[in-house]
Amino acid sequence: MCGIVGILGREPVAMRLVEALRRLEYRGYDSAGIAVLENGVLKRVRAAGKLRNLVQKLSDADLQSTIGIGHTRWATHGGPSEANAHPHIAGRVAIVHNGIIENFKELREQLQHRGIQPESDTDTEIVAHLINVALEEGATPKEAVLSVLEELRGAFAFAIIFEGHDNLMIGARRGSPLAVGHGEGEMMLGSDAIALAPFTSRITYLEDGDVVFLTREGFEILDGERRHVIRPMQFTQAASLLVDKGGYKHFMAKEMHEQPDVLGHTMSEYLDFANGRVRLPELPVDLKALGRMTITACGTAFYAGMVGKYWLEQLARLPVEVDVASEFRYREAPLDAGGLSLVISQSGETADTLAALRYCKARGQKVAAVVNVPESTIARESDVVLRTFAGPEIGVASTKAFTCQLVVLAAFALAVARERGHVDAEREQELVRALQQVPRLVVQALEQEEKVAKVAHELAHASDILYLGRGINYPLALEGALKFKEISYIHAEGYAAGELKHGPIALIDEKVPVVVIAPRDALFEKTVSNMEEVAARGAKIVLITDEAGAMEHGAKAFETITVPAADPFISPLLYAIPVQLLAYHAAVFLGTDVDQPRNLAKSVTVE
Ligand code: AGP
Repeated sequence: MCGIVGILGREPVAMRLVEALRRLEYRGYDSAGIAVLENGVLKRVRAAGKLRNLVQKLSDADLQSTIGIGHTRWATHGGPSEANAHPHIAGRVAIVHNGIIENFKELREQLQHRGIQPESDTDTEIVAHLINVALEEGATPKEAVLSVLEELRGAFAFAIIFEGHDNLMIGARRGSPLAVGHGEGEMMLGSDAIALAPFTSRITYLEDGDVVFLTREGFEILDGERRHVIRPMQFTQAASLLVDKGGYKHFMAKEMHEQPDVLGHTMSEYLDFANGRVRLPELPVDLKALGRMTITACGTAFYAGMVGKYWLEQLARLPVEVDVASEFRYREAPLDAGGLSLVISQSGETADTLAALRYCKARGQKVAAVVNVPESTIARESDVVLRTFAGPEIGVASTKAFTCQLVVLAAFALAVARERGHVDAEREQELVRALQQVPRLVVQALEQEEKVAKVAHELAHASDILYLGRGINYPLALEGALKFKEISYIHAEGYAAGELKHGPIALIDEKVPVVVIAPRDALFEKTVSNMEEVAARGAKIVLITDEAGAMEHGAKAFETITVPAADPFISPLLYAIPVQLLAYHAAVFLGTDVDQPRNLAKSVTVE
């Protein structure tokens, strides 16, 4: 994901901005740049490639300014180039941005109708122009930013400076992280505490919807409702580490809330938003001739693979077998030489999954790996690596890596479906557009956290819990049950909703809560009848559905948790959020070790 930084200082900022950007290199990038107010005029230096290229250019530009912004860019809209590198400047406005503006095409058309022709392919430059137009129309910088933010759809974090205002910097966040740094007579903005660690350990983390107005003397924050708010200042003792909790109580909480940001980063690797197309590395097999493929993984990664099976079989009409890696090689699956196997692993070191990979390769299969650690053993031994860009995942319970795996699998299924002639360009654009909305919709799903926590506190008293799902949401029932059991230590089981009457319903009584995952889709009514079967036997139902589902059948549930309505294609990505939050808040309520649950390791490197 991109990294942003801003310094409103008392000494020259150019090299201080570079130092902060160096702390953000771990996020991955392909270009970088800074912009400063030099004698009241915006000056910008950018370079493609690594920071050393930017430093080389800066050595020739004698910048003495004490106010500036900086950015490391991971290409989303528009390829990795100097022209697309941030900061972007329009008139009197310079801006750096982390995230994805979904409606940038219509906003760009609005500007073109006003005779404004952006220079770059980026969504960010559009925002700079919109703010500059508002300034030209007489708005103050504060008014201009607040009005433009209302027009934007998507997830973002911004840092913005203005010609003629050398004691003002504005920041805003919706879905992508942004922190305020408190210096001595100076203030900063950064994507996280690590970026600001060289200058301060006093950090204020902004919340979604916040807009912050900085001067050297202080700052004010408006929340999403534009009310003045106070956010706590914290001392980040962990800033020296590569990863810190970012102001959250647990790594798992931070990682759940990073999902809008890292999902945007991961999808920008595989989706061309401007043209509504998917772009995947070349696969070393003839996809049209492929008769079937296998997917192998463990735990949460296995459940991601199950979702991938639904997508591949429904979209690409490709038969898929999904196995837990610890079983796969013992069933002696007949594998065709030249066939394709997919392995999924966050750590890239899981012994069972690595053994499955080697089993496939020994039988002449080509192996593609969905991994979060590109230098891992599984990545190194695969023929094709399909990276997730979740960033370091510290919590043992996998959250952001899971949803990023789903993004990669969705893109993979789309690419295979297109290659096999089952998805045309129009359908591809529809599905890419649906995926593009995921960061924003995940922000909305996370906004239900307070309600979900209340439900979780109820569930925390149970000894046994069932999770039910149908179709593509059946793997979500399994994942929800795994999340719950592995960090709260309460027995939880996931079932295909239709399977209940074949035995598990014997478990049901008023002491056994049942979590039902059911968007208002084609299978909803069938799942509701399963829900009624268990309710009739006294079970407390927690229904996770969308507004339409809640309107129709919420009354039958003990509790209803709503998820934003969305294309069924992306529902697994959204329904993962409440099941993660349920597990997390039950565990916090019970006082278990959320990040390091008993008996578990983050990466199981033994068979
Ligand atoms: C998930 O919350 C668990 N920590 C566990 O099931 C994990 O998904 C599994 O061990 C696989 O790990 P990997 O993705 O690193 O291969």
